[in-house]
Amino acid sequence: MKMANFTLRHHLACLLLFAAPLVAFSTSAPENFMQCLSLHSENATAISKLVYTPMNSSYSSVLDVTLQNLRFLTPFAPKPLFIVTPLHVSHIQAAIICSRRYGLQMRTRSGGHDYEGLSYLSEVPFVIVDMGNLRSISVDVEEKTAWVQSGATVGELYYRIAEKSKTLGFPAGLCPTVGVGGHFSGGGYGTLLRKYGLAADNVIDAQLIDAQGQLLDRESMGEDLFWAIRGGGGGSFGVVVSWKVKLVPVPSTVTVFALQRTLEQNATKLVHQWQLVANKLPEDLFLQVILQSYNSGPNGTRTMQAIFKTLYLGGVDSLLKVIRNSFPELNVTRQDCTEMSWIESVVYFAGFPTGEPLEILLNRSSNTKTFFKNKSDYVKEPIPESGLEGMWEKFFEEDEGVPRMIWNPYGGKMAEIAESAIPFPHRAGVLYKIQHITAWTTGGNEVAPKHVSWIRSFYSYMAQYVSKSPREAYINYRDLDIGMNNVEGDTSYKQASAWGKKYFKNNFDRLVLVKTAVDPDNFFRHEQSIPPFSS
Ligand SMILES: Cc1cc2nc3c(=O)[nH]c(=O)nc-3n(C[C@H](O)[C@H](O)[C@H](O)COP(=O)(O)OP(=O)(O)OC[C@H]3O[C@@H](n4cnc5c(N)ncnc54)[C@H](O)[C@@H]3O)c2cc1C
Ligand SMILES: *[C@@H]1O[C@H](CO)[C@@H](O)[C@H](O)[C@H]1NC(C)=O
Ligand SMILES: *[C@@H]1O[C@H](CO)[C@@H](O)[C@H](O)[C@H]1NC(C)=O
Ligand SMILES: *[C@@H]1O[C@H](CO)[C@@H](O)[C@H](O)[C@H]1NC(C)=O
Ligand SMILES: *[C@@H]1O[C@H](CO)[C@@H](O)[C@H](O)[C@H]1NC(C)=O
Ligand SMILES: *[C@@H]1O[C@H](CO)[C@@H](O)[C@H](O)[C@H]1NC(C)=O
Ligand SMILES: *[C@@H]1O[C@H](CO)[C@@H](O)[C@H](O)[C@H]1NC(C)=O
Ligand SMILES: *[C@@H]1O[C@H](CO)[C@@H](O)[C@H](O)[C@H]1NC(C)=O
Repeated sequence: MKMANFTLRHHLACLLLFAAPLVAFSTSAPENFMQCLSLHSENATAISKLVYTPMNSSYSSVLDVTLQNLRFLTPFAPKPLFIVTPLHVSHIQAAIICSRRYGLQMRTRSGGHDYEGLSYLSEVPFVIVDMGNLRSISVDVEEKTAWVQSGATVGELYYRIAEKSKTLGFPAGLCPTVGVGGHFSGGGYGTLLRKYGLAADNVIDAQLIDAQGQLLDRESMGEDLFWAIRGGGGGSFGVVVSWKVKLVPVPSTVTVFALQRTLEQNATKLVHQWQLVANKLPEDLFLQVILQSYNSGPNGTRTMQAIFKTLYLGGVDSLLKVIRNSFPELNVTRQDCTEMSWIESVVYFAGFPTGEPLEILLNRSSNTKTFFKNKSDYVKEPIPESGLEGMWEKFFEEDEGVPRMIWNPYGGKMAEIAESAIPFPHRAGVLYKIQHITAWTTGGNEVAPKHVSWIRSFYSYMAQYVSKSPREAYINYRDLDIGMNNVEGDTSYKQASAWGKKYFKNNFDRLVLVKTAVDPDNFFRHEQSIPPFSS
């Protein structure tokens, strides 16, 4: 995303536009926008205390609190004119109506984890509706369902479920600070995906406010729109206020392990073998691989490290039987394994040390923020050993500890769900998904061009080994490099289909039809939102 001081540029533009029609934002708009909000909110007293402008001293802290990618924490990043932090549905409705009236773009933010910062950055004058206050969760153990508001994090959801039941869980992301608003909108996977699919596969109702400000549920929005919001990506169809989800059974005891193997310990052969078995393992077994480079000796020799990280839905005896039968080369021993409850495994996969209190899941700012650029790929044929060795070479060209890959196995339930069931299309035939990562903390934005250019070159190298026509990508790992649509306002079908087919395959066309029906004026838009036909 291009960085410039858009607020300043915008103010200059406003002077020239002063005599333009009502929709042009003018210097008096702040007051008008505020008055408009009060007029359209059920409680006018409340809303004034829920809106931040750059004049409010807490504006920056409110803006930055959930920002995840430090690349966008810079004074040059475009800033919103207003941040609205609704406590009530009418506050969201008011923000929509008033943003329309004053020609402001609106960005919805739940957990703020968008990889390209699209929930809080825009190159035109804009308003953020931050859902952080709307995060109540109600779990119904009898019915095995929960209603969860968009501003809640997946960590809060897991915690509230576990508080009521040790044998219910939910199949969503590994990182507890991810917001359910954006996460479920784009699919949402975690350690339970091979058994129960994605978070979006388990959404059974939703409350959504559309571009006209109407509050809809599954019945009143109709099945097309309900289909679109479960995986079609956030920020295209409306503001999701809350989701109703189906909880899934988990055993009272699960088992985890993380085994590390270097090149000297046959990592290449093991990783190659993993490709042949990981998607065929029983659904109760999730075996992920994390690949990174590090210095192996005093001479600064670089090697690769493969970390085989597992969640098994059952006890250690049963796990050992399964793994020795299907992947004996890994040589897993009983000492490598730890039995725990499902909720403890959530804490474990979030990367916290064992024994960390479960309340860590309620901490909305507990993960370490970095500068990063990540990308995704889907693999349908095993990569030959020579291809893997080529990848290691590329890793050695980049700074140590900066590049990483996470390989998540598919198969199981993921392969059973039809490609068109929800907009997320990466199902049968996928062996695994790769997340390519370059993440750094030293050097800041000055070294960003170097790292970003490395990952682009790595991504080019990978083209020969991954899905083709289209080269598929995961919408929740948003990547503005893919497709051609980096031009503000340029959301024509042809431009958008370049990235749209990668994220959604043939479901993209149905998403465009739904968008055309529910938001023909393209009010809800961003650099990679679904375009209506007319625009
Ligand atoms: C550290 C980290 C770990 C991650 N781990 C995983 C993982 O394990 N599994 C996985 O699947 N993904 C993972 N992701 C990706 C994550 O699923 C996406 O970034 C997701 O979109 C984040 O949702 P959010 O609400 O936090 O983000 P936001 O930045 O708030 O929103 C993302 C997008 O959705 C829109 N949006 C937000 N709220 C709403 C709403 N209420 N209604 C409509 N649109 C909305 C925004 O406008 C934006 O376009 C991870 C991301 C990060 C940064
Ligand atoms: C309006 O909001 C204020 C401030 O949040 C609150 O104290 C008051 O009870 C609310 N009134 C009604 C009628 O909801
Ligand atoms: C921001 O400042 C205005 C003007 O002083 C005030 O009315 C409003 O309540 C402030 N907003 C918040 C969230 O404190
Ligand atoms: C990229 O992935 C790494 C590893 O999961 C993570 O630490 C980083 O936060 C990710 N980047 C973003 C923007 O989420
Ligand atoms: C690596 O593989 C070779 C040959 O398959 C085997 O002899 C050796 O024991 C393995 N080393 C390790 C550390 O597993
Ligand atoms: C370091 O390099 C020296 C000289 O090349 C070599 O003799 C030694 O074995 C190396 N040590 C390690 C740990 O690789
Ligand atoms: C398997 O692991 C055990 C315990 O760590 C070790 O003693 C043994 O050498 C390993 N076997 C192979 C083939 O790597
Ligand atoms: C949440 O995590 C942050 C970052 O690790 C830490 O500074 C803070 O103290 C934590 N808050 C609580 C309430 O534990």
